[in-house]
Amino acid sequence: MNRRNWLLGSVVVLGAGGLWLSKAMNHGVSPMGMAMGNSGMAGMMKGMGDVGSRIQKLPEGAPLPELARLASTSKTAGQFSATLDASLGSHEFVQGLATPALAYNGTLPGPMIEVTEGDHLKIEFKNNVPQQPSTIHWHGLEIPANQDGNPSDPVASGASRVYEFDIPVGSAGSYWYHPHPHGFTAEQVYRGLAGPLIVRSKADALPAELGDTVLMISSISLNTDGTIAENTMADNFNGREGDHVLVNGAKKPVLSLAPGSSRRFRIYNATNGRFLRLNFEGHHMTLIGADGGLLATPVRNLEEILLAPAERAEIVVDFQSSAGTFALNAMPYERGWMGMGKPESATLQLMRFELKGSAAKPIALPEKLRDIIPLGTATATKRLTFTETMGMANGGMTMGFEIDQKTYDMGRIDLKSRAGDVELWEIANITDMDHPFHIHGTQFQIIEREKNGVRTPTPYLAWKDTVNITSKETVRIKVKHSTPGIRMYHCHILEHEDAGMMGQLEVI
Ligand code: C2O
Ligand code: CU
Ligand code: CU
Repeated sequence: MNRRNWLLGSVVVLGAGGLWLSKAMNHGVSPMGMAMGNSGMAGMMKGMGDVGSRIQKLPEGAPLPELARLASTSKTAGQFSATLDASLGSHEFVQGLATPALAYNGTLPGPMIEVTEGDHLKIEFKNNVPQQPSTIHWHGLEIPANQDGNPSDPVASGASRVYEFDIPVGSAGSYWYHPHPHGFTAEQVYRGLAGPLIVRSKADALPAELGDTVLMISSISLNTDGTIAENTMADNFNGREGDHVLVNGAKKPVLSLAPGSSRRFRIYNATNGRFLRLNFEGHHMTLIGADGGLLATPVRNLEEILLAPAERAEIVVDFQSSAGTFALNAMPYERGWMGMGKPESATLQLMRFELKGSAAKPIALPEKLRDIIPLGTATATKRLTFTETMGMANGGMTMGFEIDQKTYDMGRIDLKSRAGDVELWEIANITDMDHPFHIHGTQFQIIEREKNGVRTPTPYLAWKDTVNITSKETVRIKVKHSTPGIRMYHCHILEHEDAGMMGQLEVI
């Protein structure tokens, strides 16, 4: 059997009466907080340390899988119509061992949606996730709030709905889609629900010969019986990092390239809670794009790029060497670890690039990629603080993750803004760990970071929807929402989001 087929391949739909995931699927993560285990210290030890029954080795080194693409059923130009069916199926991460996983249309990661600026998108969503509500959230896109898969618009298990919106002109970039039902998001994502959505421009500034390769980074933890491991307490505290990091669904895949070639990559951090400090062995990176599309000008000679959960980067790498194999690595990063179970800090190989064949010529980048106009003078200021609480319950440690000491309440509006206003948001993190801050329905501009009294202006303008805020840091961003509606903002460590580190902004 072809490895690519069994890694990416078909997921057999089992139906709600078939093989079931685990008892965790029945209750999810308690939205009330993180009660750690039901039997005090014993539960805690089990949750923390019981990873001996996990699969330690996955097959690796297969060719980098191409992502499945979602086909449009529409014949009309500018109209993209399709169905996304979130179902439980059986997947083989290890040949011959069935893993019950959730998948959109049976593919892991979910099929790539490719649209062009100005297109009209119409997706019928079928929620066949057994026993849990779900939604599809279109991460990073500026679309109407009632089409954005808010937790307050759940689709019941067995039900369906249509999401329909226009892809804004000027929004070309690397987005993604994933569930957002409150209390179930982390679990549905780590069980397989997430996919990339690429918005193309009619006039991309970059030479087509650079190619355009999506690298969707996710992770998986498997029990030896093939089932996906439930979250441990360490996962709930820190965000699930996953035992095995996957690129396009495969472990340590290999991409073969001509020596000397220049290549464009879109890298996604689609993990629940792993920080990726990326480094290309033997090569520098040129950063050309962020969450919301191209930068104004390339940023050259980068040794490393930190991608917090949910962040994306577009880069170009010139593979100047004549031959050899080079790894894309995630280097050690101190993200602040709470409780036990801190992973060994080591450089992790994500994938490899093999240079072989006849040499290609490097491709020069244009100096100007696009215009990014600074958002201008802010007419209002908002200040948010990421806070945490620690306690003891049943002899075990508990943690709460909040914004301004409050956890998410669907019935509460936390902030209000006026459509069209430019606002300065100050997000402070007084906790002991990093939290990536994300806002729905818009792209913002980072202005500066402040830590230990030192203010550092952002080195370049970019459109962002997620920004990492390190422990004891304050980040200032400029935000503008264009349309009325209720928008979420939250920490994008999905376990923290489920625990309530999330609020609602009403744009009027
Ligand atoms: Cu990708 Cu509300 O999140
Ligand atoms: Cu989002
Ligand atoms: Cu967080």
